[in-house]
Amino acid sequence: MRAVLLAALVAVPAALAVTKPIHSHNDYLQAVPFWTAFNLSVMSVEADVWWQSSQLFVAHTSGEINKSKTLQSLYLNPIMGILNGSLAVPNPISVSNPLQLLIDMKSTGSSTFQPVSDALAPLRAGGYLTTYNSATGTLRPGAVTVVGTGNTPLASVVAQNPRDVFFDADIRTLFSTVPATGQTWGPHISPLASVDFGSVSNTAQMQELVLNAHDLGIKSRFWDTPASVSTWNTFWAAGSDWVNADDLAAVSNAWAAFSGALVPTRFEYTGLDAQKALERKEV
Ligand SMILES: *[C@@H]1O[C@H](CO)[C@@H](O)[C@H](O)[C@H]1NC(C)=O
Ligand SMILES: *[C@@H]1O[C@H](CO)[C@@H](O)[C@H](O)[C@H]1NC(C)=O
Ligand SMILES: *[C@@H]1O[C@H](CO)[C@@H](O)[C@H](O)[C@H]1NC(C)=O
Repeated sequence: MRAVLLAALVAVPAALAVTKPIHSHNDYLQAVPFWTAFNLSVMSVEADVWWQSSQLFVAHTSGEINKSKTLQSLYLNPIMGILNGSLAVPNPISVSNPLQLLIDMKSTGSSTFQPVSDALAPLRAGGYLTTYNSATGTLRPGAVTVVGTGNTPLASVVAQNPRDVFFDADIRTLFSTVPATGQTWGPHISPLASVDFGSVSNTAQMQELVLNAHDLGIKSRFWDTPASVSTWNTFWAAGSDWVNADDLAAVSNAWAAFSGALVPTRFEYTGLDAQKALERKEV
């Protein structure tokens, strides 16, 4: 069944891929936060947030907080401006050109979750957010999907209804854990699952983790990877979804070359048993 799945992936012409499989890691460190990525059509961006003095500051450490750099000023204002048409751009954010906003909660999850949810109120009111309705079991894709990572409390994500802040799961444990009693992992809780690449043994295991996630409708991301064309190509060849990168121009060029190749290199399915791969990891 997995072999069939991969064959299906291979058959999809690269030109049909709408969203570039690139994630802007620590996006706020770019020359112009949000815009550098957006102008390169990199539609997944990450902001580290600190709840302090009743504001959500964007910074790597609390010591680097700059009062002018908030989630609102760097991200929510430009995103809302594009969505409501007050900022004219060639390729606006929409359901067919969606943006993934990763919010890495650096201050405690218990203090930060509600302020983040409150800050999203205008996007929510505009109907722009991907939303899951627990009562009907309906996941409605929106122009913007917000995914909490870092200290984001899973219990708060699970409890939110309708849910529009999702959870970055641990890609190693999608089959060996549950998000809550009686529930299973899926895009209604975790559209994205990730792990530190340093804790993945080899390429075959990485591919297993990607396929495991895909079996559940979840996209994959590996962070703390070497920054090289060959590494990026290895992820794309394995069908991994979000390549975590800092040099957005270089990774965009690499993607153009990879996706433009007449016969993109793809790994053959290794045939490893998925559960075994997980067990090997967890030993
Ligand atoms: C992004 O593109 C807009 C035009 O859509 C332009 O005004 C802006 O300067 C560009 N910013 C960067 C950082 O490339
Ligand atoms: C805070 O950020 C602004 C805008 O980038 C910059 O002009 C200012 O120098 C920064 N302040 C400090 C203390 O770094
Ligand atoms: C669009 O959103 C921007 C950013 O939040 C806001 O400043 C502006 O007033 C909004 N414009 C309209 C027409 O709603």
